[in-house]
Amino acid sequence: MSTLLTRRSRHAGVALAAVLAFFGAADVQSAQPTALNPLPDAEVRARADTLLAKMTPEEKAGQITQYFNFGDPKEAKRVQDEVAAGRAGSLLFVHDPVELDRLQHIAVEKTRLKIPLLFAFDVIHGLRTIMPVPIAVAASWDPKVAEDGQTVAAAEARAAGLHWTFAPMVDIARDPRWGRIIEGAGEDPYLGSAMAVAQVRGFQGAYIGSPGHVISGPKHFAGYGAAFGGRDYDEVDLSDNELWNTYLPPFKAAIDAGAGNIMSAYMGLNGVPATGNHWLLTDVLRTEWGFKGFVVTDAGAAHDLLTHGLAGSEADAGVRALQAGVDMEMSPPFGTSAFKTLPLSLKEGRITTIEIDNAVRRVLEAKIRMGLFEKPYVDLKQAQRVLTDPQHREVSRAAAERTAVLLRNEGDLLPLDLNKLKSIAVIGPLADSARDTLGPWVFAFDLNETVTVLAGIKAKAGSNVRVDYSPGVSLPVRLNPSIFDTLPAAAATRMQVDDASELPRAVALAQASDVTVLVLGEAQIMIGENASRSSLDLPGRQQELLDAVIATGKPVVVLLMSARPLDLKNSKPGALMVIWYPGTQGGAAVANLLFGEVSPGGKLPYTWPRNIGQIPLPYAHLGSHQPKTTEQRYWNEPNSPLYPFGFGIGYSTFEFSNLKVDRQTLVLGESVPVSVEVRNTGSRVADEVAQLYIHQRFGSSARPVRELKGFQRVTLKPGETRTVQFTLTPAELSYWTAAKRAWVQDETTFDVYVGNSSQAALTTTLEVSKVRR
Ligand code: BGC
Repeated sequence: MSTLLTRRSRHAGVALAAVLAFFGAADVQSAQPTALNPLPDAEVRARADTLLAKMTPEEKAGQITQYFNFGDPKEAKRVQDEVAAGRAGSLLFVHDPVELDRLQHIAVEKTRLKIPLLFAFDVIHGLRTIMPVPIAVAASWDPKVAEDGQTVAAAEARAAGLHWTFAPMVDIARDPRWGRIIEGAGEDPYLGSAMAVAQVRGFQGAYIGSPGHVISGPKHFAGYGAAFGGRDYDEVDLSDNELWNTYLPPFKAAIDAGAGNIMSAYMGLNGVPATGNHWLLTDVLRTEWGFKGFVVTDAGAAHDLLTHGLAGSEADAGVRALQAGVDMEMSPPFGTSAFKTLPLSLKEGRITTIEIDNAVRRVLEAKIRMGLFEKPYVDLKQAQRVLTDPQHREVSRAAAERTAVLLRNEGDLLPLDLNKLKSIAVIGPLADSARDTLGPWVFAFDLNETVTVLAGIKAKAGSNVRVDYSPGVSLPVRLNPSIFDTLPAAAATRMQVDDASELPRAVALAQASDVTVLVLGEAQIMIGENASRSSLDLPGRQQELLDAVIATGKPVVVLLMSARPLDLKNSKPGALMVIWYPGTQGGAAVANLLFGEVSPGGKLPYTWPRNIGQIPLPYAHLGSHQPKTTEQRYWNEPNSPLYPFGFGIGYSTFEFSNLKVDRQTLVLGESVPVSVEVRNTGSRVADEVAQLYIHQRFGSSARPVRELKGFQRVTLKPGETRTVQFTLTPAELSYWTAAKRAWVQDETTFDVYVGNSSQAALTTTLEVSKVRR
């Protein structure tokens, strides 16, 4: 029935070395310069080894220690002293070019071995120019948006003096209560892998050390998105089936794309904390996947092996992290470093020189590849030029336009026609909040460059249309504070109002206007790290505001500034569009969408449940023995999603036809082209995303009812037809089965579906057999 791709399984039946070749991975042993590796491995290694030979155990331990520097004067002094003594390899969180340059001068000029610092930062969706948040970029279903955005982010970061970003986050998220859903690409491993690859390319360029680029560190390895109950930092218990088929593929894709770093996760994976997990960090990452870069822990995660109850002492934590496969400790802010105990552990024989040298070498190699020994300092003039490049804001605006997802548009309320409107009421606590428009995980922005939705609408509406504004209601504060609260960059710019008087004023404005644009959602501090929620309701009194504005009977457009599906309690505004946290030019992009200069073309990267009680509700679930009653799993309401994965409408309509699988029968190991015709049947230029799903009918394991295996976003004129081509390769037709604890491609029959969401109706079949029929 099935072909076992490989049986060379050593660890928990994992056999990816052979699969590497199968999936066409680069030859990781190559010592020759290649596009991905312009400095020959041997030369880089020899240079690192020359340095290594001169280092004391304390200098080695320092080289693989990374310190936070938030600017707290006492901590900054401690960190600077460590740098000056040659006991720090890397710093994070410094992002001011002048300060970066100053610290680098200390490292290069004052230390014995003159080894430059590697400066890292969370450049997640932009440094100065802020792009839409990562989940938004995934909603574009356009990897070019991801690559272009991160190319700009990398250019700004590198010009500022940074060398490495802790991004992309490639954790799959199937529980929207988990706040970090905003940082990834949503629930699907195929979309997630495509976005991971595009971001790594954008950050790193053609090779590590490409001018204007930085090292990319996909995170958090691995399984972090599956935290119990969507509670950030809680443990994760994942079956091997889930790990291999759903959670690991985006990491594998990012590594194959050349990512130079990986961050180990905080949490316990199946009882073994990820940062002390040898199976994960060595057996899978290095032995099976051939990863050659360096592994950094998440903040304090080596030390936390003690907190988790894995290690018995801080020294034991350092030993366990190193021996599991960690190369650098991100030392806990204001805390002690587990890796600083390594010299003692070396002396006492708990680790070997080879073990510590392997880690130090990988860090030195990264510095050599980045060219830091030749060019350690910041060109401050160039930094200023790059950081304020107006072209970057254009990239951000274009990205935001491609990320919006239109979910409802009754009676073609959108686009709004400025020739017919005399007045617009813009209402909502997020409508004029510059800080919230940018989203979380940004620290170096300039609010003066940020266009809110209100500002964008006003600029577009001109002087002939009256635009009134009311926040309507205030947003509540979090019951439990955020870890970001104390950072100045998190300060809200929202107007605080008294709901009792402002809500009726807002409703009166809606009543007196031709149309109302309501901007609702979650403040940026309510989503992201340490921002899980037990509810998907609109925070505060926003639902009351929404209901009251709809009750006026006037046309209402709701724009959701959010990054998880929210429960609008069956409210039915005329139009509903998710604008995410759209970034620096968010308001300008939203205005272009509202007034029809561009048509929304984004699609949901996650399933939108009717009710929080349905979570998790991935579209790619197994059929079960009762497929016919899937919709009736609960006695009180349908189990179908409110909006399916992949769903989104625009200002035109499209028809899919003529789905063709090039050959209906395939031999194992062969690829097959698939094509479909997409026709714009409406009257506007608009985008559609052709999505290809497969379902394997039988085989070694039961397989999900649908799995995304191809997508393409196209722009079509009214009446235009385009033939979209996909290729199904053995990689798409294979999976990891717990039955054999290995990757397989089965002899089987597939249903192939193509259309504009995970509920695509157009279908055909494909047979795969051992011999040609
Ligand atoms: C997060 C990481 C981040 C690190 C450094 C941690 O709390 O989990 O994603 O890169 O902090 O800021």
